[in-house]
Amino acid sequence: MAKAKNTKSDKTPTAKTPLTPTASSQAIDIGISTGDRKKIAEGLSRFLSDSFTLYLKTHNFHWNITGPMFNSLHVMFEGQYTEQWNALDETAERIRALGFNAPGSYAEFIRLSSIPEEPGLTEAPDWKEMVRQLVSGNEAVARTARKVLKTADEAGDDPTVDLMTQRLQTHEKYAWMLRSLLE
Ligand SMILES: [Fe+2]
Repeated sequence: MAKAKNTKSDKTPTAKTPLTPTASSQAIDIGISTGDRKKIAEGLSRFLSDSFTLYLKTHNFHWNITGPMFNSLHVMFEGQYTEQWNALDETAERIRALGFNAPGSYAEFIRLSSIPEEPGLTEAPDWKEMVRQLVSGNEAVARTARKVLKTADEAGDDPTVDLMTQRLQTHEKYAWMLRSLLE
């Protein structure tokens, strides 16, 4: 039996890696131009990376919270990261439906995200700093969603507009709830 040809690539993504359409036997014709689909998919990839980074940070803070606010914030963070985790799939699958691959590695998320990571192992911040960071994170996700929504709206991509509207509602609500803890 002939040995299968090794097609494995060890190339890691770089900042220059372009978003390439998914290989398909049939051209995509959903009424949105290839250029617009690409622009929206790129925006959604940034949104997915922001969302994943904020999800991970919220879960990190659920684990590493200490102090007098432990119980209420431990529970609040759990509610938020669970909702965020479930929402990641919708975004990634929208990118796929537009004909592109979704980012799926830590390296890609770090490269595309506008939200800085926070280490948990060494010096976990105090609860107020955690809440401040999550307010900023939710606001950053909202800003990215707003940009993608505009691009999608101009291209007549209603499913993406709908998805971004839902995510805006959630992240603006979380930012308000978290901000209220600091007043
Ligand atoms: Fe837990």
